[in-house]
Amino acid sequence: MIVTVLAENRACGPVSCAHGLSLHIRTGSRNLLFDFGPDGDLLRHNAEILGIDLGQVDMAFLSHGHDDHSGGLETFLQLNSHAPVYVHPLAFKPHYSLRQEGLKRISPDPELPERYASRLCLTEGVCSPEAGMTLFSDAEGREFSPGSNSTLYEQGETGPIPDRFSHEQDLLIREGEKLFLFGGCAHRGIVNILRRGEELGGKAPDAVFSGFHLTNPGLKRDEPEAFIRRVGIALARFPSRYFTGHCTGENPYRILEEILGDRLTYLGCGLRFPV
Ligand SMILES: [Fe+2]
Ligand SMILES: [Fe+2]
Repeated sequence: MIVTVLAENRACGPVSCAHGLSLHIRTGSRNLLFDFGPDGDLLRHNAEILGIDLGQVDMAFLSHGHDDHSGGLETFLQLNSHAPVYVHPLAFKPHYSLRQEGLKRISPDPELPERYASRLCLTEGVCSPEAGMTLFSDAEGREFSPGSNSTLYEQGETGPIPDRFSHEQDLLIREGEKLFLFGGCAHRGIVNILRRGEELGGKAPDAVFSGFHLTNPGLKRDEPEAFIRRVGIALARFPSRYFTGHCTGENPYRILEEILGDRLTYLGCGLRFPV
């Protein structure tokens, strides 16, 4: 498997960067796209520079309904005529982020499902889009939920309510004996997601690719150091390698690196990881 980072916050090479995430995954038999980054032009530009033909992607996945992951979705649907996009039905409901100026809507265009109905596959709970792949949106647990989720909202019946992240899904891919886990922001907590991935996959993933949401990008505030260390210690108990960036935050990354050492790798934009 080769994972290429098409969008992420920090450019590692001659690519453009912006706050968001998009990963191209070349398995033994498939070209996959996991998330679309914050912007269609950026996705197209970086894919061209990195020699990735988005028209050749076979299947695509949206991790959750936040625009730093969904911004390039419509451009992808225009560049690629056939790949189904697996998305949780709640991803297109209104979601908001609390900024200094007030609540900002951060969910994808709500009319997109109507315009591209034949391309979207709505997925909930646990499902297998194809042999060897499992999508799941049922990671439970509060212990490792990031506190910075507290500035994120979903639409309730009478107005915005705290986001429960029902729209978030993660992807397990099995290749031979190896198991890989892909996440977007890990709003449900990377340790909770990893535990669920281990249950579903029957073993701990060999490698995990995901933002860990240990910083609040809207308020530019990191999680408390004690929480970051607890996450790092819990991650260290799994035998997995971790590839992270995006909403993990630079300082939280350094703290995790103290605990995980060379099992942690920065998921910088433009990098390619054979695993
Ligand atoms: Fe994100
Ligand atoms: Fe997010």
